[in-house]
Formats: sequence, structure tokens, C-alpha cells
Amino acid sequence: MEDHGKVKHQAKRGLSRRLVLFPVPLQGHINPMIQLANILHSKGFSIIIIHTKFNSPDHSKYPHFTFHFIPDGLLEHETSTSDVPILLKQLNLNCVSPFRDCLASLLSDANDEPVACLIADTIWYFTQDLADSFKLPTIVFRTTSICSLLAFHALPLFHEKGYLPKEDSQLQLPVTEFPPLKVKDIPVIKSQIQGGIDRLIITMMEKVKAASGIIFNSFKELEELELTKTSQDFGIPTFAIGPLHKYFPASSSSLMKQERGAILWLDKQALKSVIYVSFGSIAEMDETQLSEVAWGIANSMQPFLWVIRPGLVQNSQELARLPNGFLEAVDGRGYIVKWAPQQEVLAHPAIGGFWTHSGWNSTLESICEGVPMICSPFFGDQMVNARFANDVWKIGIQLEKGLARGEIERAIRRLMAEKEGKEIRERVMSLKEKIDFCVKEGGSSYQSLASLTDYISSFSISGPVSQ
Ligand code: UDX
Repeated sequence: MEDHGKVKHQAKRGLSRRLVLFPVPLQGHINPMIQLANILHSKGFSIIIIHTKFNSPDHSKYPHFTFHFIPDGLLEHETSTSDVPILLKQLNLNCVSPFRDCLASLLSDANDEPVACLIADTIWYFTQDLADSFKLPTIVFRTTSICSLLAFHALPLFHEKGYLPKEDSQLQLPVTEFPPLKVKDIPVIKSQIQGGIDRLIITMMEKVKAASGIIFNSFKELEELELTKTSQDFGIPTFAIGPLHKYFPASSSSLMKQERGAILWLDKQALKSVIYVSFGSIAEMDETQLSEVAWGIANSMQPFLWVIRPGLVQNSQELARLPNGFLEAVDGRGYIVKWAPQQEVLAHPAIGGFWTHSGWNSTLESICEGVPMICSPFFGDQMVNARFANDVWKIGIQLEKGLARGEIERAIRRLMAEKEGKEIRERVMSLKEKIDFCVKEGGSSYQSLASLTDYISSFSISGPVSQ
């Protein structure tokens, strides 16, 4: 634990405790929460997962967990991820009462092991008050980077300083209070939500501060300054225990079928020759952008593996239409799938680079395999992750002009074939080595995980012991 803060440790009790975990039902959130569940189970805790009907996990893959399903009240048309803030706000409203009933029933079961705490994704902001009413400690789990949490936390400051709302003439200006962000990198999420999403984010941050601790899927060697600042600004114990998939892979919690053909195709490619292109599970683009991406890839002349998931192009649930002449132009130089076994792909010797939307799981998975990146953030935390990857960690090349074929072609060449790419690869390899060490005995994440399990074990049945 980086900050022992408010809680005094009691002598370690037996670990025969139940933990209630509540994942947000989106791929990028389910994967790390299931990994966390597996890790805590391996430390002796019993795991209960409360989940929604929407994107519900496959119980049969986790016979060692207990699952409780709650109705999420979403109508079919409300399950679209085109406007994520609206979806998440709706879920936070709809789940209050079923979650309360489920928790009450779990806590009242006197025949079972006591429940030590709730571990909820930070996005479930309604759970803090509810758990408080049961005197149940809550530890929140932030599934994305620490730097992006701090950037969201600074939104009121960005408004106060006049950076927001963003104006075209100011996009390239530095945000002096939050280097190395430029105005264009301030994490905004386009939404039709009434009153904008800032109010929601501020509420979320208040609830995080009221929690008994925060777990990060990150590691000290990558975000040490940000970790220290979080301890100061939020005043709660922090646990940077990632990258979680180093302990358990993400593939088991994939919501879509991963196409193994990608690996068979990679097996036939030359060492470090292939650029892997994937924009995660939510990002959307229009047909013009798809065409720019396609021609940027084609003109780079580099072998590629490209994930075009249904829904990547707005309003197309089936495979997007590739521009005329594209397949002829690439002439067998590439392979396209709807969904890939991403971790295995990144670990494959044929992969030389990853063109990513800078989702946090993708970023960590790439670092763990020592794969340098091209970064094209679409929204929210991705904008901060990409800036840090480009400017701070120097393990990626950020596309600064959106999706334009000329810049894409150039970036792929710079990364895959030039000295600059070689230097970026050396830096990401050095981070990979740090990761390999940090999850082993004596490493920072290993120690932080030990502190977390001690901390959870120190909770009395009615809550953590105050100093
Ligand atoms: C979302 C947000 O968009 C992101 O900004 C945030 O950091 C996490 O939540 P998503 O867009 O899906 O996530 O991106 P990411 O965090 O990268 O997670 C995607 C996951 O899906 C990764 O674990 C990746 O391995 C997996 N994946 C992706 C596959 O298994 N196959 C694929 O073809 C693509």
C-alpha cells in the first residue's frame, strides 16, 4: 500500500472472507475486474460477482466464483455503446434498487462467511452511499490509467482556467497546470446527456474520495508521480497492483469470439514485420475515416493484421465496407478479423507494432509484450493515455491530425522501418523488463497486492478500523 492513510492494520486474521465485486458491463472493464477477482481468489478470498444482464459474463468459465444476476432495466435500444455516458448514467439509475436487494440478501446470510468489502468499478458511483448504509467498506477499482483519473479530477480547474469548452484556435496550446497535456488532450466524451457529463464525473470523483481505498491496474514504475499525487488529492489508500493480466489472461472474459485464424496467419509472417491495428470494443468511425485508415495501411506497404469489429463503422452492425480497390492494393499482405485473441497476437514474434486507440488494457498489454505503438485516441481516458505514451513514456507515436492517410502511412513507416521506431522499441522493452520484475516477489505491484490483501483482512465485519 502506498498510503496507509486512514486505516490502522489489525493483526492479520484468517482470509476466510467473501468479497463482493461489481464490474461495469463493458469489455474494457470486465477484463480487468475478472482478472482482479482471480487474483483475490488465489489469495484465499471467496468471490461473489454481482452483474447485470447486459454483457453478462459466462458463469461456466468461472466455477470458483459465485454469481448474482441483477436486472439492469435496459431496453434493447438502450444497450448501444454509441453514447457511453448515457448508457452508464442509465445503469447507475436502474441498478440502485436491485443492487441494494442483492447486497442486503448477501449480508444477511449468517450461515456464510462474512463479507469483508465491496469492490466496485469507479464508474458505479451509486454504490458508495448504498454500501455506507450497510456499514460495508468499499474499495473502488479504477480500470484505467492513474494519469487519466487525475485529468478527469482536474476538469473543474480546466473550466476555471478557460480551457473548456475547447475552442479550435486553442487546441494546440499547452495546459500549463497539467503537463504534457495540450488543450486537445483534455479528456472529453461527446454525449447527448442532459446537462453534459461533467456533473457525473464530479460526482464520481466525490464518491472515490469517500471510499476506503482505490485499486489501480497500473504499476509504480510507470506512474509514480501520478500515484503520489492521487494519494495526496484523494486522501485514501492507493494500491497499484497491475498489470493484472500478468497474473491471469484477459481472453477468458472476451465477450466476442476471438478468431484463431489470426495466429495461424501470423505464424507465416517474418519476425517483427506485422503492424497490428485495433481500436478496442467501443470506438466508432465514419466511412470516410475507415477509408483513410485503409489507404494509410495499404500505402505503408507493411504487412498488417486489422480488427474491424461489427459496429466499428457507425451504424454498421455487420462488417464495414472496405474502399474499392483496397483488397487488390494490399494483395495478400494483410489479414482482417472481426475480433482477435489480442494478448496472443501482441505476444507473437511476427508483431512489430500496434496501432491502437490507446484504451488502457490495450496500452498495458502492448507494454507487457514490448510492442511499440501508434496512438489514435478517440475519447475520454484514451486522450490522456496517448499523450503520456507519446510524450512521457516515449513508447508511441501519436497521430496528431486525426485519421489522415498520409500521416498514417508515414507513422507506420517511422515505427516499423526507421531508427525512431527502433529507439521506441528499446524504451518499451525496458518497461517490459520492469513489469516482469514488479509482479514478482519483492516487486512494487507484488508488494502492493500483499498490502491490499492485508488491508482487506483488517476490515472488521462492520468496517475498517479507524485510527
Ligand atoms: C474501454 C475504453 O474505451 C477505454 O478507453 C478504457 O481505457 C477501458 O474501457 P476498450 O475501448 O474496449 O475499453 O479498450 P481497451 O481498454 O483497450 O480494452 C479492450 C480489451 O479487449 C483488451 O483487453 C483487448 O485484449 C481485448 N480485445 C480487443 C480482444 O480481445 N480482441 C480484439 O480484437 C480487440
